[in-house]
Amino acid sequence: MKERVRKLFERLETPVDALVVANSVEPHLDQSFFYLFDVPSGLFEGSVLVARPDGRIDLLTSPLEAQTAEEAAKGDTSITVHRVERDGTEAQLGKILDGATTVGLNFAELTHGWFTHLEKLRPGTTWVDVSAPIRKVRAVKDREEVERLRRAAEIGSKVGVEIPTLLRRGMTELELAAEIEYRMNRHGASGRSFATIVAFGPHGAEPHYSPGEARLAAGDSIVCDYGAFFRRYASDITRSFHFGRPDPEMHRVHDIVERAQQAALAAVRPGVPGKEVHLAAQRVIDDSPYKGRLIHGVGHTIGLAVHDGWGYNAKVDEPIEEGMVLTVEPGIYLPGKGGVRIEDDIVVTRSGYEMLSTAPRGYLEVAA
Ligand code: GLY
Ligand code: MN
Ligand code: MN
Repeated sequence: MKERVRKLFERLETPVDALVVANSVEPHLDQSFFYLFDVPSGLFEGSVLVARPDGRIDLLTSPLEAQTAEEAAKGDTSITVHRVERDGTEAQLGKILDGATTVGLNFAELTHGWFTHLEKLRPGTTWVDVSAPIRKVRAVKDREEVERLRRAAEIGSKVGVEIPTLLRRGMTELELAAEIEYRMNRHGASGRSFATIVAFGPHGAEPHYSPGEARLAAGDSIVCDYGAFFRRYASDITRSFHFGRPDPEMHRVHDIVERAQQAALAAVRPGVPGKEVHLAAQRVIDDSPYKGRLIHGVGHTIGLAVHDGWGYNAKVDEPIEEGMVLTVEPGIYLPGKGGVRIEDDIVVTRSGYEMLSTAPRGYLEVAA
């Protein structure tokens, strides 16, 4: 953990005396807290972490998860756990920050409520937004993070193999979503990494559709976009299927999306501007009869949250780096008819990438 703190301070453009990461209540928790303090369980609402340039951490936590925090910090002399009642957190924080005149904050995830408290607590402090270096450091994973992301992706892959066996005429989107989430948990997930998307027929034309009461009918295309958390790290996988009657057009669409994904993957290697990965997929789709039907960026970085960092679209100059974990997820969306998206999680290696998710991706017609 000391190593992660040091790495972060090395990336700061403006030196600071301390860095404060303050959690509010679910879902307003700053995942950087769990990047800097690797703790297996606990919610840590209202908890605060203060990190110093030499790698030291002061952790303020309530009795609700203090025991877990103390166990996680055991033997690590760089971490001091302060067990405080919720209403005592600010006074303790004020003491810990005594002497710190320039303090870094993650503006991207700190609540305005917390900022107001901090301003009152330490008037005269210079607050520095360190959200950009935090994002960058978190984007490049260490070995332990990659292993957890791999496990999260493996769970998703197992479920991807099972989905075709779950399809029944007349089942609702919500029922299929429930099955997917249940099976992820049975395979070892601590939960879903985002609200599962199951879209039947025309609903598949909307990438971020929320499942409802629509019932599966012969001839429907099916888009399932789901992910698991494994020890706080996320996966994000999409598989698309066809149900019942053959549909030559959706078969063709599926093949084009598969080719677009292969083209995007072939562009992945360290040093390549992110937009090149997107454009490789877009070219395949725009050269087909479905020009313009890729309506989102081709992927995003993933880690302690499903959308953790930034997305890859036609404007991203930032280069891909070794150790980044990202999704590659082209899709074709046909309003009134349906959609196909294929999404996998990869880790960038020295010469290219390694696939973390493995479920079959090809066109599959499941008998009604
Ligand atoms: N799971 C949402 C997405 O792929 O962006
Ligand atoms: Mn995604
Ligand atoms: Mn997804």
